[in-house]
Amino acid sequence: MPEMKHACVVGHNISHSRSPLIHGYWIRQYGLEADYTIRDLETAELPALISQIRRGELEGCNVTVPHKQSVIPLLDRIDEAARQTGSVNTIYQDQGTIFGTSTDGEGFLTHLLTAHPSFKPKRCHAVILGAGGAARSIIGAMSTAGVTAITIANRNRHRAEEVATLAPALTTVVAADDLHLIAPTADIVINTTSLGTGGKGEFPFPMQDTPVDCIFADIVYVPLTTPFLARAKAIGRPTLDGLGMLLHQAVRGFELWFGIRPEVTPELRHLIEQDILASG
Ligand code: ATR
Repeated sequence: MPEMKHACVVGHNISHSRSPLIHGYWIRQYGLEADYTIRDLETAELPALISQIRRGELEGCNVTVPHKQSVIPLLDRIDEAARQTGSVNTIYQDQGTIFGTSTDGEGFLTHLLTAHPSFKPKRCHAVILGAGGAARSIIGAMSTAGVTAITIANRNRHRAEEVATLAPALTTVVAADDLHLIAPTADIVINTTSLGTGGKGEFPFPMQDTPVDCIFADIVYVPLTTPFLARAKAIGRPTLDGLGMLLHQAVRGFELWFGIRPEVTPELRHLIEQDILASG
């Protein structure tokens, strides 16, 4: 009988987290002796959690709000993706060393290339709406994938300028009022702000001014079709929803903890879609 393995998601007030559903699906699919639970912890409880991983009582964990930054000083090493993003969403142990990484950027990119196989990141112009942690992850992944130009627009311009320093040779910051100037050369426009959550709000973007094959992507996945995506669909533009990013960002953690690279299947997507729809 193989020894039971444990992983979890760590945050505070996170009963809505879909991570247990995702990892639970894969644990069943691959017939593993494992579980994945929610742990609602205060910041002061994080050192004990890291000690459990160090002792091998826990394979690792996902980290979500509000601990994505505060956990970093407790780790032995973080990788380039976590450094760029300024936060960690996945923790694992390798030969006694506790590592932290951020998988949102690779999750976004895998989802994009899976859903739109003809999209070629090289020589493309990506427009990023927002300048938070998600924008940082996606800019990191897109610049690694070879995009040649990135435009950032954010309500707070100072934050956009800070984020632009991640890839200074590629990146330009524009005011929301000037987006019509760069829209005609956009290959993909990505909403990384929280606008659209619960169906409320939308970053103003002149969609009509973009080429007909410009992709509109959102990282918000509740609702599955945000007002931003609905408007893009209404004018016939290709879209990319936020749910795929959520599913694909989970892959690497599962692989690091349990040694199997899991598949994002239509059945898994359907399971999470049903959960989102049931939550109203
Ligand atoms: P995350 O780490 O999930 O990306 P974050 O760091 O809080 O979250 O970033 C949220 C993003 O949504 C920011 O770009 C924020 O804009 P500001 O930097 O100007 O705050 C954006 N955002 C949130 N609410 C917004 C609103 N009502 N209008 C415009 N942008 C908004």
